[in-house]
Amino acid sequence: MTKEERVCQFYKLSIRKNGNIFPCCLAIGSSYIGNLFEEDIIKKIATKNVECECTLYKNRPIKENEKPNVQRIHIEFSNECQAKCICCNQQKEKMENEDIHLQKLDELIKNYKPKYITVIGGEVLIQKKSLDWIEKIKNKYPDISFDIVTNLCVGENTIKRAIKIFDDITVSILGFSQNTYNRIMGLDFDKTIKNVEYILANSNVKIRPKYLLMPTNMYEIGSFLKWALKLNTQKIYLHNIREFRQCCNLEDAYWNNTFNQIETELKEILIQNKDLIISKNRHFISIHDILAEKTNMNTFIQEQGFENIIKITS
Ligand SMILES: C[S@@+](CC[C@H](N)C(=O)[O-])C[C@H]1O[C@@H](n2cnc3c(N)ncnc32)[C@H](O)[C@@H]1O
Ligand code: SF4
Ligand code: SF4
Repeated sequence: MTKEERVCQFYKLSIRKNGNIFPCCLAIGSSYIGNLFEEDIIKKIATKNVECECTLYKNRPIKENEKPNVQRIHIEFSNECQAKCICCNQQKEKMENEDIHLQKLDELIKNYKPKYITVIGGEVLIQKKSLDWIEKIKNKYPDISFDIVTNLCVGENTIKRAIKIFDDITVSILGFSQNTYNRIMGLDFDKTIKNVEYILANSNVKIRPKYLLMPTNMYEIGSFLKWALKLNTQKIYLHNIREFRQCCNLEDAYWNNTFNQIETELKEILIQNKDLIISKNRHFISIHDILAEKTNMNTFIQEQGFENIIKITS
């Protein structure tokens, strides 16, 4: 496949919690542009040539008179979080110089007026200053569409605020019973499920439930999928922890047997909901590579005619 050659930072910027700026979330070292705290950062974004290549794009040098048209900004806030997910490698670090950092972000938003802003933490919904900042920007630029990746295990007032700010909410769910969810995340399962259902019933916010498969929650992914298919969701993610191969010998018979059981269950649910899934007629379900491989989803997707609807991603 021929890759599109482009100046990646003219389309999107990804800003890390330490202020480092990259053209995309992969944040490959060679694509580093500069830091939010540098006086001439806007000029640097407009003029710096970075060398980078990935499966989709090849970064090319900037042409004369070519200007940035940044439509998307991805912002990582503090890593503070109320959960304690066993798989999360974040250390709950706070943002250094938070107040000045947020002021610098103001300047960037004012300069580019992007169409889309994605926010991620830590858990942004429990971070007072981050949420106040996002709310302020949304009030000032109502046309900006905000999306968030969150555990959504927060109180009613925060949910009511979130409905007014966000157009799209991805909800990370790491178990589908009170016991498993609480053991893995340290949070209240019923509260999160209630919040998802409340948002869907009381707003137009798009919801994307995201299951993160790991050894300790394997047998609950079927219940998650059944629940998610009953809701009117934008998308469903069936993801797996990136360390699956490190923590398990996936070639061992134990794991083959376990994945065979999951395979049977997931396929049954997908076949039972075939009409609904086909009616979506767009990319509706994403399955991570390890889960897809171990449950033989590739051939199943083709056999069932799900090619454009269920996609395998990494
Ligand atoms: C670090 S969290 C931050 C946002 C928010 N706190 C949440 O959990 O949705 C971002 C995403 O990373 C996922 N995640 C956490 N640990 C992971 C791991 N070991 N492998 C893959 N994804 C992981 C979470 O499930 C979540 O969807
Ligand atoms: S070439 Fe790919 S990885 Fe590199 S900056 Fe562009 S989108 Fe990101
Ligand atoms: S909710 Fe998100 S940030 Fe918090 S511990 Fe879990 S994965 Fe990490």
